[in-house]
Parts: sequence; C-alpha cells; structure tokens
Amino acid sequence: MTAELIALAERVPKVELHLHIEGSLEPELMFALAQRNGVALPYDSVEAVRAAYQFSNLQEFLDLYYQGMSVLQTEQDFYDLTMAYLQRIHADNVVHTEVMFDPQGHLERGIAFETVFNGIERALRDGERQMEISYRLIMSFLRHLSEESAFDTLREAEPFLGRIDAVGLDSSEKGHPPEKFARVFARCRDLGLRLTAHAGEEGPPDYVWQAIDGIGVDRIDHGNRALEDEALVAELVERKLTLTVCPLSNLKLCVVDDMAQHPILDMLKRGLKATVNSDDPAYFGGYVNDNYRALIAHLPLTHSHLYDLVRNGFDGAWMTNAERQKHIRTLDQAFSVRC
Ligand code: ADE
Ligand code: ZN
Repeated sequence: MTAELIALAERVPKVELHLHIEGSLEPELMFALAQRNGVALPYDSVEAVRAAYQFSNLQEFLDLYYQGMSVLQTEQDFYDLTMAYLQRIHADNVVHTEVMFDPQGHLERGIAFETVFNGIERALRDGERQMEISYRLIMSFLRHLSEESAFDTLREAEPFLGRIDAVGLDSSEKGHPPEKFARVFARCRDLGLRLTAHAGEEGPPDYVWQAIDGIGVDRIDHGNRALEDEALVAELVERKLTLTVCPLSNLKLCVVDDMAQHPILDMLKRGLKATVNSDDPAYFGGYVNDNYRALIAHLPLTHSHLYDLVRNGFDGAWMTNAERQKHIRTLDQAFSVRC
C-alpha cells in the first residue's frame, strides 16, 4: 500500500507553492559557480558542505543560506540555478511552480536587481517552453531588515512589476512580526500584487493573526503554529486560506522532532488547506516528491489524504481557472485509475 501510494504521488501532476530559488542551490553548483566567479568558500568539498547542513533552528540555516548566495553573481548564474531547479522538478511531475526570490540578499552584495530578475525569469520562460512548467514569481522581503529597506527594494523592482505576481515575507521570524511591514504590503496590494508571508514557522500564532488581519495575505507560508489557537484555525478554515507546508524543512529546522509527528494530517482533519512544498530543497534533503515520500513513509496517509494535499496545491495556486481546471481533470483521472 505504501509503495503504491508513493508511486501514485510521484506520477501525478503537482504544483509547488513554497520554494526559495536561492535554497535550490545544490553544493555541486555552489562549487562550480564559486570557481567560475573566483569566490572563496569555507569548505573544501561538496561532502563538507552537505555535512555542515545540520540545523537546530531557522537562524542556523539562514546563516548558511546567505553565505551560499555569495557565489551567485551574474545573470547566467541565476539562469543556471533556476534551470537546474526546473529540470529537477520536471522529473517530479511538477507542472506549475511559484518561485520566491530574495532581492535584498543580492542587492546588499552589489548585484543589480535586473541581473537577478533577468536570469531567473529567462530560465522560467525557457522552462515553460521546453518542459511546459507554468510559473508565477514572488518577490520576498527580508524581515530582519527594515520596512524602509523593503520600500527601497520595491522601488528597485518598479520596472519589473508587470512581471512579478506577488510579494512575500521571509528570513528570521522571531522578533520580526508581520505588522512591521504593514505599510509596504498595503502599497503592494494597491499595486495589484498578491500577498503571502511566512508565519507560524517558529513565530507564535499571533504572527499568523497579524498576517491575515494586519496584512491581509492571500496565503500563509508554513502556518504550523496556527494549530495552537482554535479560533485562528477556525478563521483560516472560514477564509479557505492555503497553507504552504514544508515537511522536510520542518524536520531539518526542528519545527517538528520527528516526521511521524508532523501535523499535516491534523491540519487536513481540521479543514485547513494544507499543501506540500520543499522550501529550500538543496538544504533540507529533498524536492517535492521527496516530501511526499517522507510523509507517506511516516504517517498513516491514505489515498484520499494524498488527493486532498495535491488538489489543495492546485486550488491555492495563482494560475488561471482554465489552467486549474485542465490540471484537475488530469489529476482526477490519475486518481480514478487504481493500480
Ligand atoms: N528563507 C529561506 N527559507 C526560509 C524559511 N524556511 N523560513 C524563513 N525564511 C526563509
Ligand atoms: Zn520558506
């Protein structure tokens, strides 16, 4: 049964709604780009990089994540990074991805916004043509920086806003509540952008309240700690807000102690629109299918749970309704053929 369910999860069309493109930088590519750009790395092998990926909290990961970004310098680097990610998810039968990028992590190193944007977008366009993976782009603000810095970034992004679909909020959560960014998010909404924010990964349920009431997000990234507040769960259910849950990330960052204790089935049972995503696959040990495999291996996950998780992804995606219906027809067909 487990093997059957894993095979089904692997072959059905899926979406990814929570992915930091900089977090898809595999150690092999990190070394290749370091060499290409003459950047020194504090590791002497790919194995040493992987061995360093032991984290006891979000901040320990972020320190290495920002260090890893230092090898990304040219438009071609951002292209190669994004194309490698697309090839990897194509193998997982991901047909639509909503990609986050962190411009402030590059601007502060002297890399121009257009260098980052053009490299990522060119790969996404090529990926759509070559592999039929549709996409949306989410520009994320770093919450450990000021709201003024977020406004500066929005100004830098102005010439590209017609090609950016949404804004997000990521980086160190504790001590940086969503309401710190209420004005910049209000401006983004006025500009017609969709809004999402990391909330309730490490931060308290109150940060999820702030994200939905103070900011008015269209989606919540993670949201695990919302489960601690009954009224909040009821509100998320009522608003049908999608949660972009990241199981392997949660394990690696000690948000959960054990995959067998992951709350994703509890989320479904309580009526939350949970989805499965990889977050930073190069750092957390896996892409979308690895996340499904881990859940199926460790939780009493049924055929119907699997359908709901994949279907919630399509329902929560910022794709057109015509695209959504086309994919859901294929999905329903795959689920109706029992092997
Ligand atoms: N930036 C990249 N991955 C992140 C995560 N899981 N949480 C917050 N910020 C991030
Ligand atoms: Zn994330």
